[in-house]
Amino acid sequence: MRLDIITVLPQLLDSAINYSIVKRAREKNLVEIHVHNLRDYSTNKHKNVDDYAFGGEAGMVMSIEPIDRVIHKLKKERMYDEVIFTTPDGELYKQQTANRFSTFKNIIILCGHYKGVDQRVRDHLITREISVGDYVLTGGELAASVIIDSTVRLIPGVISDETSALFDSFQDNLLSPPVYTRPADYNGWKVPDILLSGHKANIDQWKHNQAVELTRKRRPDLME
Ligand code: ADE
Repeated sequence: MRLDIITVLPQLLDSAINYSIVKRAREKNLVEIHVHNLRDYSTNKHKNVDDYAFGGEAGMVMSIEPIDRVIHKLKKERMYDEVIFTTPDGELYKQQTANRFSTFKNIIILCGHYKGVDQRVRDHLITREISVGDYVLTGGELAASVIIDSTVRLIPGVISDETSALFDSFQDNLLSPPVYTRPADYNGWKVPDILLSGHKANIDQWKHNQAVELTRKRRPDLME
C-alpha cells in the first residue's frame, strides 16, 4: 500500500508514521508513506496556501490551486483508490472503513485546515470526506494520523500475531473483554478464577459473555 499525505504541517504526522508498528510496517515495505508539504506547491512568493473567503465570512480558506497541483502530479504517476479529505462534517470513520482502506493500493489524504477548503476541491478532486468524531480538531493531521494508524495495522503481515487484529474491539461489533496478567493476586485484587482454570471452552465463553455485557452497558448502539 502507498499513502500520500498532503499537509501544511508535516511535523504533526511524525508520531503517526515514524514510531512503533507503522514504522516497522514501513521498514518491512508493507506500506510506503509519502508526506507532501502543500506549501511546496504554492506559486505565491510567500508560499501562501490559503486566502480570504468570498462573501465576507471570517477565517481563511485553503486555496484550490496548490491542492490541484499536488493531486494532479500524484494522479499522473499512479491510479488512486480514494482521495480522502479529513473534515468534521465528513462521514464518520469506523472500523469497517479501516478494514476497507487496508485493502486499497494507493490512497491520498488531504489534511484540512483553517476555516475549510475551497468547495471546488471537494466537488472535483476529493472522492471521500472523513470525520474521526463529532468534535473539532485544529487541523486534519490528527484525523489523518488516526486513519493511517488504524489502516496500516490491518495490512497482512504488519501485526506479527495475525489473528490479534481480528479480536479488536469493534471487529465483531463487540467491545473487547477485560484482560489480566501476572501477578494473579495483587494485594488482594484478584484475577477472575476462570482465567486460571486452564479450561479453554469455559474461558472463551466467559470472554464472550464479558464482551456482550460490556457492549450492552457502554455501547448498546453497536448491538442494534
Ligand atoms: N478536522 C477537524 N476536526 C476533524 C474531525 N473531527 N475529523 C476529521 N477532520 C477534522
